[in-house]
Amino acid sequence: MSSKRISFSDKLLSGFINQEELENYNQSIASAEKMLSERSGPGNDFLGWLDLPWTISSSMVDSIVSRASEIREKADILICIGIGGSYLGARAAIEFLSSSFEDMRKPRVVFAGHSINSDYIADLLDLVKDRSVAVNIISKSGTTTEPGVAFRVIRQFMESRYGKSEAASRIIATTDPKKGALRKLATEEGYAAFEIPSDVGGRFSVLTPVGLFPIAVAGIDIRNLLAGASEAMDFCSGDSYQDNMAGHYAAVRNILFRKGFTTEVMAAFQPQLHFISEWWKQLAGESEGKNGTGIFPAALDYTTDLHSLGQWMQEGIRNVFETFMVLKKTNRSISVPKFDDDSDELNYLASRSFEDINLNAFKGTLLAHVDGGVPSAILSLEDRSEKTLGQLFYFFEKAIAISGYMLRVNPFDQPGVEAYKKNMFALLGKSGFDKLREQLFSRIGNMQL
Ligand code: PA5
Repeated sequence: MSSKRISFSDKLLSGFINQEELENYNQSIASAEKMLSERSGPGNDFLGWLDLPWTISSSMVDSIVSRASEIREKADILICIGIGGSYLGARAAIEFLSSSFEDMRKPRVVFAGHSINSDYIADLLDLVKDRSVAVNIISKSGTTTEPGVAFRVIRQFMESRYGKSEAASRIIATTDPKKGALRKLATEEGYAAFEIPSDVGGRFSVLTPVGLFPIAVAGIDIRNLLAGASEAMDFCSGDSYQDNMAGHYAAVRNILFRKGFTTEVMAAFQPQLHFISEWWKQLAGESEGKNGTGIFPAALDYTTDLHSLGQWMQEGIRNVFETFMVLKKTNRSISVPKFDDDSDELNYLASRSFEDINLNAFKGTLLAHVDGGVPSAILSLEDRSEKTLGQLFYFFEKAIAISGYMLRVNPFDQPGVEAYKKNMFALLGKSGFDKLREQLFSRIGNMQL
């Protein structure tokens, strides 16, 4: 029996959800589980993530680990280029498991291609100019604009800095096994390349080379990450909320949604959780927001945001529920020193740890928000370890898949993402978009900022 390092509690939800409602949702959990295991639901050709912790081959893991140690030896910085699901998982893991300060990380993994901004790229080139650099370009489709244009600049920098052949030995591509421009480029240029399984979509790909390679370069034990994820497969399956933690969370979300609580706030109580919330936002938002439905995923960082949006959470419009994500154990513990003069009147906290103070901030916030009419659940994480994170990744993926089926959408597609892309291509003059370009120009003119 594997140890559970994460837990979900609905004990303060009793004023908002009753036992019978949850029991009734067991049917929906069972039916979502059936669609997933029988691969009979919408998006069933994108279910590779479901048993990935077991099916990923040891030779794949070995080759990720060995390529990562090679890069760790020769590079001070890995530039990881990607966006959305090809970016957020690695960032979430690295921020959760590494030092809070990037300068303390060796090698440093920095990110690019997740925005379109000259200053960012120029600053990045300044940062890396005197360091030993490696690059991981990640794109499943191999055609996404943001990472594509960032990679052009960085490839040019690498080739002029190292020469074509040494640059090629420092560039690793992660992309579809067969399709796309990046696969073609990797073959032509002789880049080492990792394959993203065709049946795993971007936001479910953190446990493929998309996430695993940069995570391994950051010095994180990916075997333990995968072990954690496979442990979660045990307690995130089953036909009832009592057995299936992912089903339990999915049911709670859907019951609240149907009662008018249409926004979920992931409230993280530790700064190292910030990018896990960002990853979760993309996972939930892109999976569920379609067909005119979907729980809007938002995220706050406490206690920071208690001094910003705390007022809104306490007394704003009541269409929001909250999942408090809390860490039971930090890596190290610092306590408040005692000062004889007590002129700042803080001696009542002397010798108490920051975690003890934070725990009381959490309890106080939880009770205040429940009293303020915000349904609140608790997701506790044991520690900042690879196994805990692996469990958390798998739990969220499974929960969002079940929740998407409860909302009667296909959780594995993202047709809406194309709308902005089409307009952008037309406005930029890409061939094949001439008619749309004319239409858009007649609406917007040659608009300048
Ligand atoms: O979850 C998804 O499918 C998306 O967020 C993609 O990951 C994102 O658009 C990047 O796509 P690609 O990896 O093809 O560049």
